[in-house]
Amino acid sequence: MSADYTVQGSVAVVTLNNPPVNGLGLATRSASVDAIRRAEADPGIEAIVLTGAGKAFSGGADIREFNSPKALTEPTLHTLIRVVEDCSKPVVAAVHSVCMGGGLELALGCHYRVALPGAQIALPEVKLGLLPGAGGTQRLPRVVGLEMALDMVVTGTPVLSEKLAGTALFDEVFAAGTDLLAASIAFAGKVAAQRPLPKVRARAVGHPDRDAFLATARAAVKARSGAFPAPLECVETVAASATLPFEEGLAFERARFLHLMQTPESKALRHAFMAERAASKLPDVPADTPVRRIERAAVVGAGTMGGGIAMNFANAGIPVTVLETSQEALDKGLATIRKNYENSVRKGKLVQDKAEQRIGLITGTLSYEDIAGADIVIEAVFEDMGVKESVFRQLDAVMKQGAILASNTSTLDLDRIAAFTGRPQDVIGLHFFSPANVMRLLEIVRGKETGKDVLATAMALSKKIKKLGVVSGVCDGFIGNRMLEQYLRQAFFLLEEGALPEQVDAAMEGFGFAMGPFRMSDLAGNDVGWYIRKRRAVESPHIAYSKTADLLCEQGRFGQKTGAGWYDYQPGERKAQPSAWVRDMVERHSAELGLVRRPIANSEIVERLVYALVNEGAKILEEGIALRASDIDMVYLSGYGFPLHRGGPMFYAETVGLPKVLEAIRGYAAGRHGEAWLPAPLLERLAQEGKGFAG
Ligand code: NAI
Repeated sequence: MSADYTVQGSVAVVTLNNPPVNGLGLATRSASVDAIRRAEADPGIEAIVLTGAGKAFSGGADIREFNSPKALTEPTLHTLIRVVEDCSKPVVAAVHSVCMGGGLELALGCHYRVALPGAQIALPEVKLGLLPGAGGTQRLPRVVGLEMALDMVVTGTPVLSEKLAGTALFDEVFAAGTDLLAASIAFAGKVAAQRPLPKVRARAVGHPDRDAFLATARAAVKARSGAFPAPLECVETVAASATLPFEEGLAFERARFLHLMQTPESKALRHAFMAERAASKLPDVPADTPVRRIERAAVVGAGTMGGGIAMNFANAGIPVTVLETSQEALDKGLATIRKNYENSVRKGKLVQDKAEQRIGLITGTLSYEDIAGADIVIEAVFEDMGVKESVFRQLDAVMKQGAILASNTSTLDLDRIAAFTGRPQDVIGLHFFSPANVMRLLEIVRGKETGKDVLATAMALSKKIKKLGVVSGVCDGFIGNRMLEQYLRQAFFLLEEGALPEQVDAAMEGFGFAMGPFRMSDLAGNDVGWYIRKRRAVESPHIAYSKTADLLCEQGRFGQKTGAGWYDYQPGERKAQPSAWVRDMVERHSAELGLVRRPIANSEIVERLVYALVNEGAKILEEGIALRASDIDMVYLSGYGFPLHRGGPMFYAETVGLPKVLEAIRGYAAGRHGEAWLPAPLLERLAQEGKGFAG
C-alpha cells in the first residue's frame, strides 16, 4: 500500500505513504483514490483527513515515473484530484514539511487545508521547464491572488506556510508544536456537517488592474527567461485563470503543459535533474559504505586554489589549517581569504558576524606538525610532479593514520602521486574549479587504489560543502579538462584558418555558453595552458596544436591579470576589447603557415567546438573514465558554462542525432588536422546501432 487508511471516530485518515517524499506515483494515486471512495461509501465516516507520512505531505510527481507511461496511466493525478474535489464528504488536507508540485495541486483539490508552520509550499515545475499541469495554475490564483500565484508559478520558489496564513490557501495554520493529526481531525469534525462543500474552483480571481498587471509581468518575465520558454508559458496559463472559465483554463493549462513536455529545453532540464541525482551513485560503492569523520581539514598551498578550498571548509563550519612555504605567501593567502569574505559582507551576501566566525575557523602555519591531526588534507601547490612528490612524501610521514590525502591537481597522474605514499588507499583527487569557493563542480578523482570508504567520504563531503561531486578515473585532464583540450585545439585551429577570437566567442555565446573560449582563457590565465602544452610537447610530441596561443604567451599576454590576452583590457576593467595586436599576430601566423584565410560560418565554429567535446567525451566514456554520459554532462553544465537548455554535450549530441554528429566528425577527419578527429569507436558503434549514450 502506498496510501494508508485508518479511522478515528467518524473521520477517515488517508495517509500518503511513498518514501522519501510521498511522490504521487501510480500506486500511491490508485491507493488514494480507493481510500477516498472507501471513506465515501462508509456510512460511519463523516469527513476525511488527507495527509502524508514521514517527512513530507507530498513532494509532487514521483521522479521515478519521469518519462514513464505510468505517469499517464489511470488514475492520473487529474483523476485523483477530481475524485477528492467531487467527494460528497469534506476532505481536509493536513499539510506539513513539504507540499510541492502535484502535492500542492492535490491539496488545492481538497475542500479545506490546514497546515503546520514551516511547511514549504511551492509549484516548482518551471525549474524543469514545465508548468503545473494538474490545475495548479488555475486553482492557486483563486486562493492567493493573481500576483502571488504568478510569482510562485514563474519562479518555483517555496513560500513558508505561515507566510500564506492570511490567504484562502489555508483555513488554519496551527501554532508550532501542534499535533497536526489530532488538530486536523478536530478541524474535520467541526466542518463535517457544513454544506455546500467549498471548492477552490468555484472562487473568482480578482485583480483591480488585471490587464496592466499582466502586461508588466509578461515584459518582466520575458526579459529574464533567456532561452527558456516555460516562464512565459507560466504567465499565460496563470493569466488564463483570470480570463477564462475554470474548465477552459484547465484545458488551456493541459495543452501548454503537453507542449512544454516536448520542448528540447524541458527535456534538457529534466535530463540535468536526473543526471545530478545519478552522479552521486557509484555502482561498486553501496550507499551504506561507512564514511570517515571529517572534523578538521588542512590545505597545502594558499594560492589561487588553496584559499578558495579553505573557504569551503570554513563555510561548512569545519576548522581548516592552511600550510605554506613562507610567511609572506601565507600572509598573502590569508589576506586574500579575508578580502573575499569582506567583499561578501559588502555585497550583502554575508553578515559581518558570520564572516568573522568563518575567518576564525581558518588558521595558517608553516609547519607540517600543525596539520598532522587533520582528517583530510588537500594539496593545492604548483602543478609540478616534483613539488607534488615532496609534499606527498611529507604528508605520508606526518599525517595521522586514516587521514585522507587529497590532491587538487588538474592534469597530473594521481596514481603516481599516490605511489609517493605508503597509503595509496587514502589518496584521492579532489579537483576544484576556480574560483573554488564559488564554482559548484568538484571532480572526484578515483585512483586505482583509492579506498571505497575514501570515495564514499569524498562524495558525502562534496554535499556537505555544497558541491556537485562527479567521479572521474585517472587520465590527463580527467573528464573536464581532457575534453576542454580538444575544444580549445579547435578554437585555436579556427584562428589559423580565418576566424578571430571575438568571432569564435560570439558564436559560442550565441549557442548559449556563458563565455566563449577566448574570454574564458583570458579569465583563467593563458599561462596555465601554456605550461601544460610545454609539458605535453615533451610527453606527447606527436599531438599537433596551433602555435597562436604560444605566440600570445611569449608576449606576456596572460589575460585579465596582465591587462592583455586574447583581448585588451583597460586598467582595472574586465571588459574584453578586441585587440589589433592579436588580429595582426593571428593573420601573420596564417600567412607563415601558407594558409589563405577564409570566412568561417558561426555554425562551423559551434559544430567543431561542441563535437570536439562530444567525440572526446565518447572516448572518456568508453575508457570508463566517466561512469555515465550524464556525468560528463554534469561536469560541463556545472563547471564549464555549457548551456543548461542544451543539457550538456552528450545529451545535446543525442538531440542532434549521433549518426549526424558522426557524419560531421568524419567530414572534419578528412580535412586539415584530421588526426584530431579520429571518431570515438563508441560513437561509431552507437550511431550504427541507432542507440544513445545512456543506453
Ligand atoms: P598558485 O600558484 O596560485 O598557488 C600555489 C601555492 O602553493 C603558492 O601560494 C605557493 O607558495 C604554494 N606552494 C608551492 N609549493 C609549496 C609547498 N611545497 N608547500 C606548500 N605550499 C607550496 O596555483 P593554483 O592556481 O592555486 O594551483 C594549485 C593547484 O591547483 C595546481 O595543481 C593546479 O593545477 C590546480 N588547479 C588550478 C586551477 C586554477 O584555475 N588555477 C583549477 C583547478 C586546479
